[in-house]
Amino acid sequence: MIKRIGVLTGGGDSPAINAALRAIFVRSQHYGYTVVGIRNGWEGLVKGNAAELERKDVAQILAIGGTIIGTSRTNPFKIENGVENVKANIAKFALDAIITIGGDDTNGVMFKLSKQYGIKGVGIPQTIDNDIAYSDYSIGFDSSLEIVTNAIDALHTTAFSHSRVMIVEVMGRDAGWLALCGGIAGGADVILIPEVDFDYNEIVNVLKARKERGANSSMIVVAEGAKPANCEGPICASDTVDNFGHVQLGGIGKTIADELEKRTGFECRVTVLGHLQRGGKPTAFDRLLGTRLGATAVDFIHEGKFGNLVVMNNGKITAVPLEKALTERKPMDLDLYELSKLFY
Ligand code: F6P
Repeated sequence: MIKRIGVLTGGGDSPAINAALRAIFVRSQHYGYTVVGIRNGWEGLVKGNAAELERKDVAQILAIGGTIIGTSRTNPFKIENGVENVKANIAKFALDAIITIGGDDTNGVMFKLSKQYGIKGVGIPQTIDNDIAYSDYSIGFDSSLEIVTNAIDALHTTAFSHSRVMIVEVMGRDAGWLALCGGIAGGADVILIPEVDFDYNEIVNVLKARKERGANSSMIVVAEGAKPANCEGPICASDTVDNFGHVQLGGIGKTIADELEKRTGFECRVTVLGHLQRGGKPTAFDRLLGTRLGATAVDFIHEGKFGNLVVMNNGKITAVPLEKALTERKPMDLDLYELSKLFY
């Protein structure tokens, strides 16, 4: 019988996590469950840092970005005694089930714990990268997309005024959703994503053709994980690797700017949007999504539907087994990518 639910948020934050936390709390109250907020992702269960949430904790948080319970990229499977500590703290806080809100890493730990130790849990997809299989939208993507689109809108006017090529570097790790959708919504002239290696000659041709047509500026949106065809891997900002084996990406915008200036003589400028993409107010869509996924996660626990990810799939809120969602790669919408080329 369920009495106490632990909730944690892991990985890179994004707007609208708090909407999900609020819905988890309110739905839990409806069933008479206590919610324990685990601090800073899996780190909270490794270190025993958690506390019961109260109604005042979730009041007025719907419109606030970030996560009130903190986040980290902690992987208990990579820490000495990490998993033993997690198990001990689940017992200490008397948690009957856990809700994890995060990307593939955070939910992947939940999956391993459920498979190897029978720990009961439900996951919620949250990442601006929007790269979770079977999930139309993960929490945070829409808000981030809005930020990227607004940034490109703003950059168009200065690019135009100075007759420059503007290169906007966008997050997303090895997924190009944010760059592709933001680029189309912002009217980019060239969009470069990790899923399709690019060719400098093609970009140069686009820029020159635009110039010949009388366009005095151009907008290139590049995902941080994009790379040219002859390059081994994406450009990294540092060589440190996190607990889940991820390098810190960054720098492709500057590399492209240097190369294009050399090849075309056009003046280029780079804007790295960075963590601005993860902050600020959630959009209405994201608040609604976070609310629906959060409430449904508690319903799933109530119904004993453990080991699932609660997703929006083809517009419906539904369950997909964690194993399935986390072992398959979300396919890029290459039709959408082709559509973006219509505007080159
Ligand atoms: O996964 C979300 C994300 O924002 C990626 O798009 C980006 O590469 C990474 O996190 C940045 O992480 P950090 O906050 O550790 O710099």
